[in-house]
Amino acid sequence: MNLKAVFSSALMSILEEKTMTVDEVEKLIESPKYENHGDLAFPCFILAKQLRKTPQQIAIELAEKLNDSLVEKAEAVGPYMNVFFNKKEVSKHLLQKICHEQDNYGARLASNRGKVVIDFSSPNIAKPFSMGHLRSTVIGHSLAKIAEKNGYTAIKINHLGDWGTQFGKLITAYKHWGNELEVKENTIPTLLKLYIQFHAEAENNPSLEEEGRTWFQRLEGGDTEALSLWNWFKNESLKEFEKVYKMLGVSFDAVQGESFYNGAPMEEIVKELEDRLLLKESDGARVVKMGEELPPCLIQKTDGTTLYATRDLAAAIYRKNQYNFVKCLYVVGGEQQLHFQQVFHVLSKMGHDWEKDLVHVPFGLILKDGKKMSTRKGKIVLLEEVLDGAIKKAKENIMKKNPNLQGVDEVAREVGVGAVIFHDLKNERMGNVEFNLDQMLTFEGETGPYVQYTIARGNTILEKEASSFGEISGLGDEVSWQIMKLLEQFPREVVRAYETYEPSVIAKYTVRLAQAFNSYYGKVRILSDDSEQESRLALTYAVTTVLKEGLRLLGIQSPEKM
Ligand code: ARG
Repeated sequence: MNLKAVFSSALMSILEEKTMTVDEVEKLIESPKYENHGDLAFPCFILAKQLRKTPQQIAIELAEKLNDSLVEKAEAVGPYMNVFFNKKEVSKHLLQKICHEQDNYGARLASNRGKVVIDFSSPNIAKPFSMGHLRSTVIGHSLAKIAEKNGYTAIKINHLGDWGTQFGKLITAYKHWGNELEVKENTIPTLLKLYIQFHAEAENNPSLEEEGRTWFQRLEGGDTEALSLWNWFKNESLKEFEKVYKMLGVSFDAVQGESFYNGAPMEEIVKELEDRLLLKESDGARVVKMGEELPPCLIQKTDGTTLYATRDLAAAIYRKNQYNFVKCLYVVGGEQQLHFQQVFHVLSKMGHDWEKDLVHVPFGLILKDGKKMSTRKGKIVLLEEVLDGAIKKAKENIMKKNPNLQGVDEVAREVGVGAVIFHDLKNERMGNVEFNLDQMLTFEGETGPYVQYTIARGNTILEKEASSFGEISGLGDEVSWQIMKLLEQFPREVVRAYETYEPSVIAKYTVRLAQAFNSYYGKVRILSDDSEQESRLALTYAVTTVLKEGLRLLGIQSPEKM
């Protein structure tokens, strides 16, 4: 059931042979400017030359000929041929389809489109999980669900920042000023403090920098003491990150951090670049030149250690060999644009034609009072606190509305966490997000709780009636037609969200559908015993099912009741 497709195939059957292809026809179909002009319109200009008639004439002729059981009437308005669908017939078919397919509705047919690797979240160990990492986590997680709905297999990878010169510095700081117990009890703030202290002291004592470099060299060389300290920092950090992932309901198929590529993969990359004569000396370091547009990509430092970009090169090649992906997405903030341009460019110079399948999916910042939320210099906002705060506030709001709700703590968790996720995903990802807990948690406006609340309302209605639908005869009224038109769009929104890597497409859609349903609920008595009750219940079921599915694609749960 796709109204555009219905219209175009009806048109195809009356157009003279070879005038236009179905795709061409479908591309031209638009929504009329005024709703009372019809549901869809076909502009006839393009046929004028071929048919040697005026567009107006063509519109009249087509309107006379058009004949389809789902079309109520066709009308020529100037050069346009407009159609009105038979609301009752269309809604009957659509509701039957959704009630039958349930949460599978909107899934793209022909599954098995191949693997999509999604590199997301990827926080840095020994540092707090930043707001940027939160954005990457929720966007990447949602894109994985959206990819699956589109028939791909998503491979979710956490490319942990667990390697690099900073760990040489951290080990140095720990050896000088660290305390085992403190790290154990309060891992991330303590490690962060040590790291900050290192930079402060190094300003007056340059030998610390040298020491840091040596420790990182030892780490890359496999030195036991360096490795065991590093391992310890890493495991403690991971425990903290796990708490956040658990709260958000996020999981990974592989945690392959930067350290995963140390040793052989890194040596191979350097060797391959050497063999292809791509490595050039530059002040003792080794780089790949990028041509005019981009600065050279640093591959190996003077002391032989490797860099972030080197590890990304090794990671891309590993992933291609391991998964043979059709796409590999990097959900990483916009400030790393240059880095990814360089990495992709080096891969193409190496002759990897699959480089075209690598996509940097950037996003904007999270702002607090108009300024970037920073993790540096004590201004840390710990994500766990943000989520806890949201859950607490959600609970207060729910208790006000429904003081006797059972299982309120679980509901508050779903609503609080859902609110934070929804707030992030409702805007196009390149936009900045203003962080405001109160705003996220209201039950009105474009919020997660608003959509969740609409689902709960639908559930309450359905609960009163057995939800096996007898005779769905369809609905002919204007109010329910608005909902049908939205329900009918869902499958295409699923495709669009994937093709643009935009979870916001789904988030915005759920708000539109929730609003339409709430206005329906205000105008129509769903439960009144007449011949259309079954259809109204089916509509209610279809809306809650699609809303739930929409939220699921965003990584948000929907409580049965709230
Ligand atoms: N750890 C990096 C950071 O926090 C993000 C890594 C993104 N993924 C990648 N393959 N480079 O900035």
